[in-house]
Amino acid sequence: MATLVGVVSQKGGVGKSTLARLVAREYAAAGWRVKIADLDISQGTSTDWKQRRERAGVKPEVAVEPFGAVAQALKVAPTYDLLVFDGQPHSMAGTLEIANASDAVILPTGLSLDDLKPSVLLAHELVGHGVSVDKLAFVLCRVGDRSAEIVEARAYVGRAGYKALEGELPERTGYRRASDQGRALSETVHSSLRERAERVAQGVIDFVSARVSDADSGRKAG
Ligand SMILES: Nc1ncnc2c1ncn2[C@@H]1O[C@H](COP(=O)(O)OP(=O)(O)OP(=O)(O)O)[C@@H](O)[C@H]1O
Ligand SMILES: [Mg+2]
Repeated sequence: MATLVGVVSQKGGVGKSTLARLVAREYAAAGWRVKIADLDISQGTSTDWKQRRERAGVKPEVAVEPFGAVAQALKVAPTYDLLVFDGQPHSMAGTLEIANASDAVILPTGLSLDDLKPSVLLAHELVGHGVSVDKLAFVLCRVGDRSAEIVEARAYVGRAGYKALEGELPERTGYRRASDQGRALSETVHSSLRERAERVAQGVIDFVSARVSDADSGRKAG
């Protein structure tokens, strides 16, 4: 059975799809059979990204398929090592479905209170619906250059009872260009940006690995 990773937020434009592609690409480069389940069928941005990627001949291939429902995506999971759910905004029901199905749930968020507060409220709501708090991790996205702001955002997430993963993705033209060319953020031509993206991806990979091995030992113990 595939490892299942959800990338969710209620807000639009925080960087869900961008982060989903980064994570999927890094696993694919490590030889995993990976698929992004594009659950935002009204926009289908990851599906479009995949077409740009194919046209530009970027390797490794990253499979992307649009699905109208999590249950449909789960049907193809057995043929992959990793399924990444690219969630749709403004859908509590859909987000909860992704969170319930996933081994790890990644919540990208910006740094302003306008971003952080709804992100934390979403996490609270998921936990209120029975999602384990251990499944949840925040990733700071589209950040600025002031380290104090980043430190404060991490503290905000921590005070709310959640973990913010290592690294953060700055808002950069180079990332937009990479995305426009069907590339993941770790495939940008700018080496410093590449390294920052790789660090974030590694943070997610480490979190997912820890989650899956916890679940495995829980199963064995049970
Ligand atoms: N770190 C970044 N630097 C520059 N541009 C970024 C960055 N992250 C995301 N973007 C751009 O911001 C826009 C929104 O990002 P993305 O599509 O990943 O967000 P989303 O949460 O999936 O949005 P939606 O809720 O509409 O699905 C895109 O145009 C994307 O290319
Ligand atoms: Mg999206």
